[in-house]
Amino acid sequence: MEVTPLTGALGAEIRGVDLRDASENLIADLRDALARFHVLAVRDQQLSPSELSQLAQQFGPFSGNPIHVPLEGQEDVVKMVREADDDGPNIGGAWHMDLAWFKAPPGLTMLYAGETPPVGGDTLFADLTDAFAALSPTMRGFLEGLTSIHSAQDVYATNAAVRAVSVQPDAKAVSKIETEHPLVCRHPATDEPYLLINSTIRCFKGMSEAESRAIVTFLLEHAVRPEFTCRLRWYDGTLGLWENSCLLHHAIDDYAGHRRVMYRTTVAGERPRAAAEAA
Ligand code: SIN
Repeated sequence: MEVTPLTGALGAEIRGVDLRDASENLIADLRDALARFHVLAVRDQQLSPSELSQLAQQFGPFSGNPIHVPLEGQEDVVKMVREADDDGPNIGGAWHMDLAWFKAPPGLTMLYAGETPPVGGDTLFADLTDAFAALSPTMRGFLEGLTSIHSAQDVYATNAAVRAVSVQPDAKAVSKIETEHPLVCRHPATDEPYLLINSTIRCFKGMSEAESRAIVTFLLEHAVRPEFTCRLRWYDGTLGLWENSCLLHHAIDDYAGHRRVMYRTTVAGERPRAAAEAA
């Protein structure tokens, strides 16, 4: 397995592996690479939706996805087709974490590129461990005491506006969901503290929405500083996999006039642990 880091912060390209019928040793090597680089772009794969699902299950059970209509016969895989003439919003076109309002947000997202534009349609990633480490000790201490209330109130409307996916008929029901997470959590593999920051934070416990918004706005801007990021360029047959609950990602909408087809699945994660708790 050939591993080439993408930037000084995070991300690596992987070559020289075939992920169909991956051995336990290969999965263990990928887990190690994920703990080190957080985002992997495995090039030159040929995965059918069922092979993608089989691979994902080697990392853990499906997280569930109450929002998107899955592929027929493959309930853990969503096919996202952005047609060349689709001038509406793309899916994931803002910094976010997938399903942050779950009690246990997916630990891993996998995205397989079926058809990519000749140029454009890259995805950006930001490392929330680096973002936390770069804050002052006083700010880190203050943030460690905060509990975020994540709200799914905008999830239905945001996804219903995207033509690349269909939304499940009862997806509106999630709008009422609110979930508490510590703002500063422990990375499940490395135990390092990271900021569980996302635009789904409505407020912090014990603070007003206006007070909370000022902090969330600052942290979202801070977390995506260029030195905490990498940019993944997709080619047909690239499998991207990333530690969803410890990163933000952003799909860039710069390929007007071209088709982009991706297959997505998510692997269950663990309930975020507060960094202040004993390891
Ligand atoms: C997503 O955020 O689910 C999609 C990311 C992408 O298409 O690059």
